[in-house]
Amino acid sequence: MTNQQDTLFALPGEHQGNFQFDNRVAGVFGDMIRRSVPGYSQIIATIGDFAGRLVSPNTQVYDLGCSLGAATLSIRRQVEGRNVCIHAIDNSEPMLARCRENLDAYVSDTKVEFHLADIRDVAIENASMVVLNFTLQFLPPADRDALVARIWHGMVPGGVLVLSEKLKFNNDAIQQLLDAQHLDFKRANGYSELEISQKRSAIENVLIPDTLDEHKARLHQAGFTQADLWFQCFNFASMVAIK
Ligand SMILES: C[S@@+](CC[C@H](N)C(=O)[O-])C[C@H]1O[C@@H](n2cnc3c(N)ncnc32)[C@H](O)[C@@H]1O
Repeated sequence: MTNQQDTLFALPGEHQGNFQFDNRVAGVFGDMIRRSVPGYSQIIATIGDFAGRLVSPNTQVYDLGCSLGAATLSIRRQVEGRNVCIHAIDNSEPMLARCRENLDAYVSDTKVEFHLADIRDVAIENASMVVLNFTLQFLPPADRDALVARIWHGMVPGGVLVLSEKLKFNNDAIQQLLDAQHLDFKRANGYSELEISQKRSAIENVLIPDTLDEHKARLHQAGFTQADLWFQCFNFASMVAIK
């Protein structure tokens, strides 16, 4: 996967306005997400492991908001020979174009279909795995319940949903502590104070986090009676739900 260094917010006044998954972001996204999201590589590897355990033959897999295809690639490596179709879906054209290149770079007998589409408009059917890896947080909050309910309806019994998100916390002291830890993580990964503050301003109206309780309630309300956290580092978490 291409891994150009993220310097998008390095100069004063650069990349003003709301954060968008445009060509510039797509070009550096692999580097950006690894240096910004603690545990990202672990999460991608574990999504593949879950696929190896839970994706059943002759079903479909959906990677919703696939970006460069890291989760799709990790899943595909674990499901060879199962006659599975993986749907990689993103509404950013530059992301999806790079995703296709990244997947096409390796030989596989597993079909991948690429959809330039809004995840709210895509039919989900016969799914034994659905991945929302840091994507739900970018949907308007009013649209989140309906999407998760639709995912539940489109899944086969025993199918798995992986939902990874940035979290917010009801308790101010916990919020401040974990925010501070996250900023230190970004500093340790080479981001300057200017880069951190400019990225934060660009993304704050676009990425709207929920609390863990809100996520659990939404999953439960959608029909997922088996759901829990399997990973958390600071204010980033990944949940797993089984139908
Ligand atoms: C943080 S990235 C996801 C990272 C990716 N899942 C991974 O594991 O590397 C969010 C992605 O969701 C896409 N996205 C956001 N809203 C979307 C929507 N309504 N429909 C389709 N894609 C969407 C963005 O274009 C972006 O590529």
